[in-house]
Amino acid sequence: MSLRRTKIVATLGPASSSPERIAELINAGMNVARLNFSHGSADEHRQRARLVREIAAENGQHVALLGDLQGPKIRIGRFADGPISLEVGDHFRLSTSHGLEDGNQDIVGLDYPDLVKDCRAGDELLLDDGRVVLQVESVGRDEVRCRVTTGGPLSNNKGINRRGGGLSAAALTDKDRADINLAAELQMEYVAVSFPRDAADMELARKLLRDAESDAWLVAKIERAEAVADDEALDGLIQASDAVMVARGDLGVEIGDAELVGIQKHIISRARKQNKVVITATQMMESMITSPMPTRAEVSDVANAALDYTDAVMLSAESAAGDYPVEAVRAMSRVCIGAEKQPVSKKSGHRLYQTFERCDETVALAAMYAGNHFPGVTAIITLTESGYTPLIMSRIRSHLPIFALSPNAQTLGRVSLMRGVQAIPFNPAELPSSEINQQAVNRLLAAGHVQPGDWVILTKGDVYNSRGGTNSMKLLHVGEELV
Ligand code: G6P
Ligand code: MG
Repeated sequence: MSLRRTKIVATLGPASSSPERIAELINAGMNVARLNFSHGSADEHRQRARLVREIAAENGQHVALLGDLQGPKIRIGRFADGPISLEVGDHFRLSTSHGLEDGNQDIVGLDYPDLVKDCRAGDELLLDDGRVVLQVESVGRDEVRCRVTTGGPLSNNKGINRRGGGLSAAALTDKDRADINLAAELQMEYVAVSFPRDAADMELARKLLRDAESDAWLVAKIERAEAVADDEALDGLIQASDAVMVARGDLGVEIGDAELVGIQKHIISRARKQNKVVITATQMMESMITSPMPTRAEVSDVANAALDYTDAVMLSAESAAGDYPVEAVRAMSRVCIGAEKQPVSKKSGHRLYQTFERCDETVALAAMYAGNHFPGVTAIITLTESGYTPLIMSRIRSHLPIFALSPNAQTLGRVSLMRGVQAIPFNPAELPSSEINQQAVNRLLAAGHVQPGDWVILTKGDVYNSRGGTNSMKLLHVGEELV
């Protein structure tokens, strides 16, 4: 049985909120449902979260919920008489004192007083993800005067970035704080922080989540030029997070598309080296918003991210608002499985020449090397409380499925984002210790994942239901009486 290793995050939105559609997405292979707090009401998110939980449970699947905070995206105000159209050479002003509802062909308001401090003549400002580009000609007391260098339509509340980064409002807005409470209420497994500048932004989000009694894992969206300016900045952000997202939309706008692919590869590799999960996001199957088939370039984009060993690939508008959400998940799934057949996806040199820091880490990595080098092994079983042991294991390239056995529903959801990891509910505390190995292997046998005669490797600790306690690995011969 070939299990897909690369996971699929699909954003839910108007095109994917009915029970039927959510069931189809789960059956097509959605591993994580992303709820985008930039759109929709709290009640809409509650409803979607409830449906995902219910339908996943009915289908015996584990699907994590990822709440994506809107963050401090700087946006222009609104236009009094509907969208305008800017042409190359036009003059246009961004004003911090002009009414936020009163934009016109010459000027628009903006709720970001620091704009005049942050901008200089010669800067390039990108509106609507770069669809309209302005060059700053001069900066006044309360306005920035620009000339249009790339024209196009401009409508209400479009986002604004500066080429090279540097427009920076505080990372957590009042709305983000309210949404953190909502994520806690919905027991989301992951919460993504938008536009974090540094570790302090992540720590604040973590504190707010813990105060709300959530133990969600935190995803840093890498989308500011400052975050990838050097390895120190990037590593700081990665270290402060549990997972990172290569958020190619805003990042691409800030650093330019020429740099984006190299940086994407670099982020994937840095994240994995630091034992973090990594999601590759934005426009992966963009043409499938209106077409039932991906382009060859999109196929190549998804396959390359899978070959680079991203944990997950993500759909945004394709699944939230497109015409073919289910087809997009199926296409991603198919392309990932194809890419995973390549030998580069199976061999690992990860940390081969490094020392390890912890006992459980040592056992987890040793288990993967044993599995990769002993051909009779067909599966890894790891008993886990928090998902940490399978996380460490899944940083290693391997063809072996990693089965994470846990009694904890949150953990089963959480591991669903990790490359190569399959969730199985299992409570060792209910069993006499002499039966645990046998029962764990029986679960895999019953599901057809292993056959008599196979070897499996099992890791666990001496005490059950205690995180960080893994201290043993055992090679078990399936079909024999196990103790
Ligand atoms: C389960 C097992 C323990 C093991 C632990 C590891 O609780 O019963 O024996 O030590 O998982 O959990 P972790 O969260 O560190 O992966
Ligand atoms: Mg973004």
